[in-house]
Amino acid sequence: MSLLIKNGEIVTASERTIADIFCEGEAISMIGRDLKAPPDAEVIDATGCYVFPGFIDPHVHIYLPFMGTYSKDTYETASKAALVGGTTTLIEMCCPARKDDALASFELWMAQAVGKSACDFTFHMGVTKFDATTEEQLREIVRRGISSFKIFLAYKGAFGIDDTELYQTLKLAKELGVIVTAHCENETLVAERSKELLATGKTDPAQHHESRPPRVEAEGVHHLMTFAELTGATTYIVHLSCQEALMEAIAARQRGVRVSIETLIQYLVLDKTYAELPNFEGAKYVMSPPLRDARNQSVLWNGLRDGLIQTVATDHAPFDFEKQKPMGRDDFTKIPNGIPSLEARINLLYTRGVKSGRIDLNTFVDIASTRAARLFGLFPRKGTIQPGADADLVVFDPNYRGTISATTQLMNVDYSAFEGWPIEGRPHIVTVRGEVAARDGKFVGTLGRGRFLQRTPSHF
Ligand code: URP
Ligand code: ZN
Ligand code: ZN
Repeated sequence: MSLLIKNGEIVTASERTIADIFCEGEAISMIGRDLKAPPDAEVIDATGCYVFPGFIDPHVHIYLPFMGTYSKDTYETASKAALVGGTTTLIEMCCPARKDDALASFELWMAQAVGKSACDFTFHMGVTKFDATTEEQLREIVRRGISSFKIFLAYKGAFGIDDTELYQTLKLAKELGVIVTAHCENETLVAERSKELLATGKTDPAQHHESRPPRVEAEGVHHLMTFAELTGATTYIVHLSCQEALMEAIAARQRGVRVSIETLIQYLVLDKTYAELPNFEGAKYVMSPPLRDARNQSVLWNGLRDGLIQTVATDHAPFDFEKQKPMGRDDFTKIPNGIPSLEARINLLYTRGVKSGRIDLNTFVDIASTRAARLFGLFPRKGTIQPGADADLVVFDPNYRGTISATTQLMNVDYSAFEGWPIEGRPHIVTVRGEVAARDGKFVGTLGRGRFLQRTPSHF
């Protein structure tokens, strides 16, 4: 089976060129002008389209037992949604509860994906406690092909680790060359402020932001940076939302701390007024860290443009508005946190970023694909277009015009945070290792074909 994509404008993180791409089996074998297809090849005319490397979402939750419920997607629904939206690789957070065994949890998370996913996938291994058994199991999990950990400085009593565990996790990561991704919010401040707000009758979704204002996140970043500095570990701040937190990370980077920064599409296009919508509508927009004051959006866009922020993810965490968000109708601390965005990330980033002139096409590819591949041990198999790379390709039609709606989305959740929003451009064809998996918003791929991506640590 071979595939020839003709006449598209190939865009990588560093180049733009019009050429043909020939894929044999699962990989790209040749790039050049006027390539001839063998008689049995599938030929795709990409004239007038961009051809991007398959996009990587480096922070998703698909199987997530959280806040007394479970996130709604499965690998069947999430991988379909990812693919129609141009995302061909998922990096999911494996999130054991503190009481759970790390290795058994890793196997549980793997079992959700293997034989079910239509796109390729790997995991950041959540370290939600640290003891001798966990340490041994983490070493084994790394041997099995995981090269990144995830830690939470928030979610007291659920996923959060204490400072001794933080120190030991970072030391182990440094020894193993593993990069540590971290949710940075000071959990004591969140807990105390939440108690105070609830005690004064402030229970609505808008209070979520008051319980964890920007300084709470900045303090979390500052804390992680101190520990990273003293252990020498390589860190990656997930879902950074605001200027205050960014300043802390940049200050640390300037003194030599090894840190990369992820923001989310939600923080780039939504602001805290959405979480203030009346009649509990704001619950659709509750996530952590919270949506921020709109002034932060230009800070984040400029940070991406100037290379201060490295990636744009979704932190996809789908909870239904009708049945799950109301768990917190009388207490904002019980609203399941998350704004589902997996399917819309690329279309929104292109529409609001590239079309609006905030970022150029090469930066778009870098922040949505290449940089994640480099940081998380997937490059050059993923994240670029070159001979030998997996044939994960997005033929993107910049002339498409449409709107986002929950009625047409493939994500298994009953609302869209972007209902009715216009999009300019969308994936026309999406391939996974040489096979067409999505076409014009429809999934046409193969469930179960997605592979676990084994990775080797490199952050020594
Ligand atoms: O609100 C969020 N972010 N939900 C998912 C869990 C997490 O913190 O990543
Ligand atoms: Zn988080
Ligand atoms: Zn997350």
